[in-house]
Amino acid sequence: MIYKLLKKDPKSGARRGVVTTAHGEIQTPIFMPVATHAAMKAMTPAQVKETGAQIILSNTYHLHLHPGEALVQKAGGLHKFMCWDGPILTDSGGFQVFSLPKKRITEEGVFFRHEDTGEEIFLDPAKAVAIQEALGADIIMNFDECIPYPCDKAYAERSTEKTIRWAKQCIDAHSRENQYLFGIVQGSVFEDLRKRCAKALVKMDFPGYAIGGVSVGEGLELLKQVVGYTAPHLPEDKPRYLMGVGLPEDILESVERGIDMFDCVIPTRYARSATLFTNRGRIRLTNKNYRRDFYPVEPNCSCYTCRNFTRAYLHHLFTSNEVLSAILASIHNVHFYLNMMAEIRTSIEEGRFVEYKQQFLAAYLKGK
Ligand code: GUN
Ligand code: ZN
Repeated sequence: MIYKLLKKDPKSGARRGVVTTAHGEIQTPIFMPVATHAAMKAMTPAQVKETGAQIILSNTYHLHLHPGEALVQKAGGLHKFMCWDGPILTDSGGFQVFSLPKKRITEEGVFFRHEDTGEEIFLDPAKAVAIQEALGADIIMNFDECIPYPCDKAYAERSTEKTIRWAKQCIDAHSRENQYLFGIVQGSVFEDLRKRCAKALVKMDFPGYAIGGVSVGEGLELLKQVVGYTAPHLPEDKPRYLMGVGLPEDILESVERGIDMFDCVIPTRYARSATLFTNRGRIRLTNKNYRRDFYPVEPNCSCYTCRNFTRAYLHHLFTSNEVLSAILASIHNVHFYLNMMAEIRTSIEEGRFVEYKQQFLAAYLKGK
């Protein structure tokens, strides 16, 4: 059994659960920090672990190009190669390939060019699964088409039907034991298409389901609607993963609608451009107001950065272009996200998730 539902929030769709993988348990709801190239940017695996990370995400597309799955397999698999002994999820490349400027989409798959060599590469469901089997993550993803936004309904319908056909091909191609293959629901912002896709995938009986094709510019109101009408069609006894989401407010609204897993580059990407998350909103440490600010980034934070350094020191690091700025800022931002997820889990256990969400957002959005 992959998912154990521990508690349902009586006042919302929020759920507290546990996902069990070959490399350990994941307490949900959870946020997965992103290690695109089998490396968290500016953080060692030990630092990632200390922030409270339980599972991280890597990308099939990037690892296929460099260093190639054969090399990763030769190194003993992704866990050993990158020295992360906890659970790992790989995305299929379905998102990265479709966001390339030059590609050719057919019924069978997608043609694109290697970014360095110019060599033509073809990715299809069977190949995306084979690459992910070789990489050896605990959870792997279907090869799907992430529909751009906005999109006319005729295209969205054809694309969603193709994602459904590809889903079956992914299942047929998948043979590795101890590795879960998740289905991905597409359908853009059309309720009937989302419902149709969810029902078709649920019939195929995946061990977990993702909602894809969000965070593509639709905004929070539409995101809430899509999650709100899609999640109820997914089985209660399987994990639900919302791909590429998002900001703290997006995560809170989606947990409320029954999502268990999230991933996003925002905490690490923002950290490298001096934007840090606090309980009173985001701050930009390059701002000269922080030059003589001897408080930690977030006084209530227990991360390594906040325990030891001031905003003035981080301001100095960023304005001097020191590499350490990215390290310390990333540690704080990832810790901030994972601490919010831990607070979400406790609030669900104690039956006060909606109150927690309201309190968090009242302080966080006021400072924005
Ligand atoms: N990452 C963010 N959105 C998506 C999506 O729709 N599909 C896949 N495969 N990955 C994603
Ligand atoms: Zn901190």
